[in-house]
Amino acid sequence: MIGKICGTGSYVPPHIMDNDDLSRIVDTNDAWIRERTGIARRHIIEDETTSYMAGQAALRAVEQSGIDPKEIELILVATSSSETVFPCAACEVQKMIGAVNAAGFDMNAACTGFVLAFNTAQAYISAGLYRTILVIGADSMSNMVDWTDRGTCILFGDGAGAAILQAEEGEPCIMAAHSDGIKGPALTGLSRHRKGREPGVEDKESYIHMDGQGVFKFAVRKVPEIVEEVLEKAGMEIDDIDYFILHQANRRIIEAVAKRLHTDISRFPMNLEEYANTSAATVPILLDEMNRNNKFSKGQKLILSGFGAGLTWAACLFEW
Ligand code: UT7
Repeated sequence: MIGKICGTGSYVPPHIMDNDDLSRIVDTNDAWIRERTGIARRHIIEDETTSYMAGQAALRAVEQSGIDPKEIELILVATSSSETVFPCAACEVQKMIGAVNAAGFDMNAACTGFVLAFNTAQAYISAGLYRTILVIGADSMSNMVDWTDRGTCILFGDGAGAAILQAEEGEPCIMAAHSDGIKGPALTGLSRHRKGREPGVEDKESYIHMDGQGVFKFAVRKVPEIVEEVLEKAGMEIDDIDYFILHQANRRIIEAVAKRLHTDISRFPMNLEEYANTSAATVPILLDEMNRNNKFSKGQKLILSGFGAGLTWAACLFEW
């Protein structure tokens, strides 16, 4: 059994912050950000929440799929920035879309989260446990960045993307995932510090710490490796793949991955110019954009790959 994508959706907040807006907050400029990252602007929440964005993306996926939300048996939300730890975002989405028969829970593997949730959904489907699963990646990175740190705040944006999988006869997806907790300090995000519990401990806002070059090198090495791993498991060659949908962190990372794989960059679609790095949401937002622009046709082979904090990285090879 395989989970075929029968609907996709995405949502980004309407408020846009471009590179010039950022240059009024930190010592940076449009030329530096474009050249080093490929990012021109990002969408930032005002009143919206992570769960709200997840629910909006889900509604669009449900509408496109034509299914009744009551058919959804499981909701998985990949997020590391939900405003509430509980109830989980998946239960909030369930309420918003009326998926009254679904179970739901959240998964946190930062920017790798959507691909891991997608793989989890595929495993449930191939084990015969569920037939219809809604998978979402949603993050509000603007709540987590330190807006005085030009090394990180320029990179991120907010958004959500969703895909609905339905069981069909067919070969299961080819999946791989890895973690390296020892390298975890290269990219950390703190949650709000406990308030009032210990005398003298101040309420500390969430923020991200990153060794940018360390994460860059990790991604450029590990993404080609995991792509080759799933290709080998599938008995396929690089030229058998139509599109590589990678986590949208930095244009230079994606270009370096394509180069290391000796593959044409045209098979690595990108949209980070518009949205920046929306963490778990980058892969499903890009999937949805391509789907709605009719870029996919039946039988095409796709590889999804995410990488990020943990450190974590994952991939999935499947047929559209
Ligand atoms: O989901 C995973 C999330 N994380 C990532 O994907 C991060 C991966 N890493 C990166 O994308 C890149 O390392 C960055 C974009 C974060 C940084 O690019 P870089 O080419 O590695 O720059 P750098 O840190 O080596 O800095 C080069 C120079 C430094 O100045 P000096 O020391 O050469 O004078 C920085 O102080 O650029 C300076 N700089 C900036 N200048 C203007 C750093 N950030 C900025 C900035 N604007 N925003």
